[in-house]
Amino acid sequence: MDLKQAMQGKVLLAPMAGVTDRAFRGICKSMGADLTYTEMVSAKALQFKNIKTKRLLDIGEIEKPAGVQLFGSEPDVVADMAAMIAESYAGDIFLIDINMGCPAPKIVNNGEGCALMKNPALAARMVRRVKDSVSLPVTVKIRKGFSTDTVNAVDFAKTCADSGADMVTVHGRTREQYYSGKADWEIIRQVKRALDIPVVGNGDIFSAADAKRMFEETGVDAVMAARGALGNPFLFREIQHLLKTGEAMPEPDAAERMETLMRQAAETVAQKGEKTAVVQLRKHAAWYIKGLRGAKVYREALVRVNSLRELEDIAREIIAESSRSRAEF
Ligand SMILES: Cc1cc2nc3c(=O)[nH]c(=O)nc-3n(C[C@H](O)[C@H](O)[C@H](O)COP(=O)(O)O)c2cc1C
Repeated sequence: MDLKQAMQGKVLLAPMAGVTDRAFRGICKSMGADLTYTEMVSAKALQFKNIKTKRLLDIGEIEKPAGVQLFGSEPDVVADMAAMIAESYAGDIFLIDINMGCPAPKIVNNGEGCALMKNPALAARMVRRVKDSVSLPVTVKIRKGFSTDTVNAVDFAKTCADSGADMVTVHGRTREQYYSGKADWEIIRQVKRALDIPVVGNGDIFSAADAKRMFEETGVDAVMAARGALGNPFLFREIQHLLKTGEAMPEPDAAERMETLMRQAAETVAQKGEKTAVVQLRKHAAWYIKGLRGAKVYREALVRVNSLRELEDIAREIIAESSRSRAEF
């Protein structure tokens, strides 16, 4: 497969730990996301056969083949787990991505995630080892750099490419910035110019217009949306529509938002059981109602729901209320 050709103009859902579970990814895919990734998966925990970690590799039919994202600090462990995954889930997986951007202290202090950007030799060895252990594309997700003083995305991306990486995703913020400030798209443009392999741009795609502008301003092969998709899987169809027709499509109304939330909720419950699912769904529900009339009051109720039924009751109330206020209009 020619990955460069396959990635042209594509719109990806970013990996987000604690958010992009199978149910949400499925919804995003149905809305037009071209590729989804698992939440980041600890290679070490996988090696120890941690059950919860293994469940992160559960990929829905609609997403297949999907990306699997691994994190770790030991090239051999990451490579062995990549090989295990490629074999156990043959056909379900599109690529193996290595996380080199996570800023969380417990990850970075272990030499994982964005810490790898401070150790290009280790990162290079990891890419090489993973590449040698699987026949799938091996990709890396990096940041602008570790800190303002050590911005190295261009050189680091080149090192990864020279070590065998098939694609690089660049989030235009440093580790120091976490998720604050504006993503630097200029550094994404520079990485794209410096590499022959496909480059994915990431950071601050909150609307279809943002995605279009990212393509135009950086020349990337593909774009990846993260926080813009929270409670807003509709973003993907809006981006696809704008890219295809040059025209903006209307945003979903309250009823469609709530129907989609209920679809996601039912799927999450089916996959995780009601108790676990409902707790996790509270934050998704709060995201889905952002910007709706009366959102503040509904949010207070939604973040307290204890069952799928309660969540659905509130969602239906929102639909009823929105059709009432439309009728009054
Ligand atoms: C809640 C949350 C969880 C995240 N988890 C991951 C992860 O598991 N792996 C990863 O590579 N990036 C992770 N990220 C980073 C996003 O993939 C993305 O790079 C970042 O949010 C910038 O894109 P945005 O400005 O569109 O949100 C996470 C971000 C958020 C907000």
